[in-house]
Order: sequence, then structure tokens, then C-alpha cells
Amino acid sequence: MSAHVYTGPERVFSGVQPTGALHLGNYLGALKKFVALQETHDCIFCVVDLHAITMPQDPKTLSQNTRKITAAFLAAGLDPKKAVIFVQSAVRAHSELAWIFNCSARMGWLERMTQFKDKAGKDKERASVGLFAYPVLQAADILAYKATHVPVGEDQKQHLELSRDIAERFNRDYDAPGFFPLPEPLIKGPGARVMSLKDGTKKMSKSDPSDLSRINLEDDADTIARKIKKARTDPEPLPDNMDALKGRDGAANLVGIYAALAGISDQAVLDEYAGQGFGAFKPKLAELTVNAITPIGQDLARVNADPAQIDLVLKDGAMRASAIAEPIMEEVRRIIGFWGA
Ligand code: AMP
Ligand code: TRP
Repeated sequence: MSAHVYTGPERVFSGVQPTGALHLGNYLGALKKFVALQETHDCIFCVVDLHAITMPQDPKTLSQNTRKITAAFLAAGLDPKKAVIFVQSAVRAHSELAWIFNCSARMGWLERMTQFKDKAGKDKERASVGLFAYPVLQAADILAYKATHVPVGEDQKQHLELSRDIAERFNRDYDAPGFFPLPEPLIKGPGARVMSLKDGTKKMSKSDPSDLSRINLEDDADTIARKIKKARTDPEPLPDNMDALKGRDGAANLVGIYAALAGISDQAVLDEYAGQGFGAFKPKLAELTVNAITPIGQDLARVNADPAQIDLVLKDGAMRASAIAEPIMEEVRRIIGFWGA
């Protein structure tokens, strides 16, 4: 193989922000994939608190939120013996490499990022520099470990493309062909983009003011069933093919959720339910969702009851993560020509 191509081992990295309780979108877009990947790959999963502070956070609750996301990782089935689980701010390599990458990334690349435009809103002059540079830190997260594969939801596609651009640019600028891999997103499949239950054109989000818009991992069976019953759909029965669902966003979303939970294709769901209305479909979907989510919620309560155990997992994870990142950072410093490297 050519020296211009990365030839190191495969490694998986992903991150979740400690900015609120996780929901079905996070589960299907991210956590469920993490749990499967830990069986087949070297995996590193990170609670990204440095990313969280790109928007205002309360210092009194940030570390609690970090523990909560860690607990959700564990309750969803991540095993600290199989995967490295840690907090971003506990490993210095992230901040250091982010600065270095700030000098490789180009303003024009960041100006195109749709998440920045969404989060900054109308008054982008008042947004923090950190919010603008957010995707550069994300590239540093991944590349500090030379990770090759990144499981994320559809909303992270553009950030992953930027990570590839940054890796390529660094390799070229410092004449270090193949030094960083060009990380590949793992996005495909139903569940990559779960939409709000109240508005099928908006993604399901932690920050939506309406709790009815999302199913939280902590919701009990009754709450889940009620939210699905109230989900916005239409009076038409389900068609026999996905094309016929165009323009019926709420309906398409529920079909997608069903498919992701059952581990089948959207078409397979329609093969089963074509001709039936939502009065028949929603109770089936509720049952499937309750069976997938309530065991996690119950386990979450158990894990949350032992914060000392969560802290032990995070301490051990930080040591293991540093041990992987530090030799890579030593090479980076040498490649750049820093004194003493
Ligand atoms: P965040 O909560 O923004 O840190 O997202 C954590 C992970 O969940 C990322 O991989 C996101 O892409 C994924 N994710 C967030 N919202 C959704 C959604 N509505 N559908 C699918 N994946 C999502
Ligand atoms: N930006 C991601 C999100 O909001 C979280 C994240 C930070 C991430 N660093 C990462 C995801 C590295 C994958 C890899 O969902």
C-alpha cells in the first residue's frame, strides 16, 4: 500500500455532550451502534464536556450531567472492560490538538458549518469563538487516537467531512503523508435521523422545549405509550412503499423508528402494515419502544445510585485514553517542530 495512505489499525471513537437527558434519537443514532461496535472493534467513547461549554453551562451541574451521560452509556450496555469510557476534559490531548488543528482548518470551511449557523442564530457576532471552532475540537477528539471510524447520527455528517479535510490538510502541510487517517462516518441505517414526535420536519432534540417531542431513556412505559399516541401523524393508512410516504413526515418518522428498533428495513415495516391506520400501528410501535427503552431506564436508576462507581469507570478510562493519545501527541509535536519534542 502507498505511504500516502494510513495503514494503522482500525479504531472507533465517538462522543456525546453532557447537555441534558438522552433520548430515542441518541439511542438509535449513536448508543445502539456503540454497543454493537464494542464487540468487534477497539472503541473509545467520550463525554465531551469541552464541547458542552461552547454554550453556557452551569458549573454546579456540569459534572453531574457528565456522570449522567456516563450512566446512560453503561445502562445502554457499554462495558468498560471492552471499551474505553472517559471525559474529554480529563485528557489534555484534546485541547492541545484542537489548537494545532485551528491552525490547519480554514475560516471558509468553518463558515459553511450548518450547526454553527443554527446554534449562533441571527446574531453570530455574539457567538463564542469556541462555538465557531467546535468542529475543529471534534476533529481533535477523533484524531488524537488516530480513530478510523466514527458512529454518529446524520446531523454529524458535515462535521465528519471537516475532520477528514483537517486530517488531509495536516498530513500535507507538514509533509507527513498517511500520518492521520481520514476518519469514516458510520451513519447508515434507519435511526440515523429520528425526528420530533410533534413535528416530523425537525430532529428529535434534547433542547426542544416540548417534552412530548421526544422519548427520553428515563420515560416509563405509560409515558412512552402516551407520547407515541399523541405523536403527530395523519388520517391516511400506511402505504405499501416508502415513496408514497413523501410529504408525510410524521408518518415516515414512526415507520423509521419502528424499523430501527426492530432491526429491519423501512420497506419491511410497510410490508407488514400497508393498509393499516395509525390506530393499529401506534400501539405496536409503543410496545416495541417500551421493550427497548424501559430496561435501559431501569438500569439507569441503578447505575445513577452509585456515583462512586461511575467515577471509577471515568478515572480508569482517562488513564487508558491518555496512554493511547500521548504517544500520538509526541509524534505530532515532533512533526511540527516544537522545542523539546
Ligand atoms: P448530542 O446529544 O448532540 O451530543 O448527540 C449525540 C449523538 O446522538 C450524536 O452521534 C448525534 O448524531 C446523535 N443524535 C442526536 N440527535 C439525534 C436524532 N434525532 N436522530 C439520530 N441521531 C441523533
Ligand atoms: N458533535 C457531536 C454531537 O453533537 C459530539 C462529538 C464531539 C463527537 N466530539 C465527537 C462525535 C467526536 C463523534 C466524534 O453529537
